[in-house]
Amino acid sequence: MTITPVPRVAIIVVAAGSGTRLGAGAPKAFVGIDEHSMLRHALRGVFAAGEAQVVIVAPPGREGDATTEAIEAAGSRRDLVSVVTGGATRQASVAAGLHAVWPDVEVVLVHDAARALTPASVFDRVVAAVDETGWGIVPVLPVVDTIKRVDGARVLAGVDRSELAAAQTPQGFPRVTLEAAYAGADQEYTDDAALVAAAGNEIGIVDGDALAFKITTPEDMERARAIVSPIAPMRGSLDRMPPAPRVGVGTDVHAFGGEGALWLAGLEWPGEPALAGHSDGDAVAHAIVDALLSAAGLGDIGTHFGTSAPEYAGAHAHAFLARTRELLGDAGWAVGNVAVQVQTTRPRFAARRAEAERVLSDALGGAPVSVSATTTDGLGFTGRGDGVSAFAVALVVPA
Ligand code: CTP
Ligand code: MG
Repeated sequence: MTITPVPRVAIIVVAAGSGTRLGAGAPKAFVGIDEHSMLRHALRGVFAAGEAQVVIVAPPGREGDATTEAIEAAGSRRDLVSVVTGGATRQASVAAGLHAVWPDVEVVLVHDAARALTPASVFDRVVAAVDETGWGIVPVLPVVDTIKRVDGARVLAGVDRSELAAAQTPQGFPRVTLEAAYAGADQEYTDDAALVAAAGNEIGIVDGDALAFKITTPEDMERARAIVSPIAPMRGSLDRMPPAPRVGVGTDVHAFGGEGALWLAGLEWPGEPALAGHSDGDAVAHAIVDALLSAAGLGDIGTHFGTSAPEYAGAHAHAFLARTRELLGDAGWAVGNVAVQVQTTRPRFAARRAEAERVLSDALGGAPVSVSATTTDGLGFTGRGDGVSAFAVALVVPA
């Protein structure tokens, strides 16, 4: 048996932010750039660099998703990865990651998952410079724009550009320096280098990389998508093609004969016979889930809510639809609108149609939902009153 030596470098990947400025409806690190999330892209650079322990700092509740991403990115080196829960600020998240660093590690790099396209060479450059100098090391880019100091609408003075550099991550430090600085930090700093410098340590620089830009706003995300899929914008015209919306369809059927009250279209219908099913048998909600997942190319209801998922036993529409919206958000999609038609002899929908639309729309974060109902003139299983059938169409748009 070979014993693999413990790496002497650790990389803490902070991915616990909420991504307020990106506004994609999901924690930023889980938003898709292409078919892969930002975190997955960030980990590609991390694992292509020299061997290191990898500590991923995930948002509370998303540790499992982070582990899945990590396992896929790590390949045969999943033994190098651990996932910890982040804090309310970036600094608290780094501190949480630092606690998980293995005892023998000597050099620690801290990296923003939001700098998802950072090449492996930057990591290697930072480690080499930490080893050579014993300082903290920041990758930087020269500032190309002319910089002005301003006060409201007035320019106060020009600033000498040669004295400025734009800081990126990964920032690297001797482990003891970083731990001591974090242990003594009593305020929030803008980055790890500032925190370590405030504790009286030297900080040096190495060349950063234009690809290590931070994805903060929707414009940054567009830039990342153009880099990752450079062919798409070339199709058709020289203008960049906007990412296209997509449609999907879904149907569902449930038989009457369940226990308790009827749940249909997100509403309880007292006095009506219940539908049978693993959950509440709400064929309308299930058809919508299938249509949304199909539009986003995320499989179908069985992929995500199979009968093996005990948390959905007896669950109502809201739980299914809210989780579906979350899955879409993670993949970079927002719900455009949904139209659903239900075929059934009972209950009679007309009086509660608006209420059903409101409840279903609320569960989808406010996206419009139209509900229509029809009978089948006594024909077929819906006509005989054996069960309910629903058919939905959904539009999803890039988030
Ligand atoms: N981060 C973190 N924990 C926090 C806040 C931020 O781990 N409490 C991480 C983010 O996940 C990101 C990096 O720190 O990888 C840089 O932060 P930023 O770009 O500001 O990301 P967010 O805080 O998610 O975005 P926003 O400020 O727009 O909400
Ligand atoms: Mg932030």
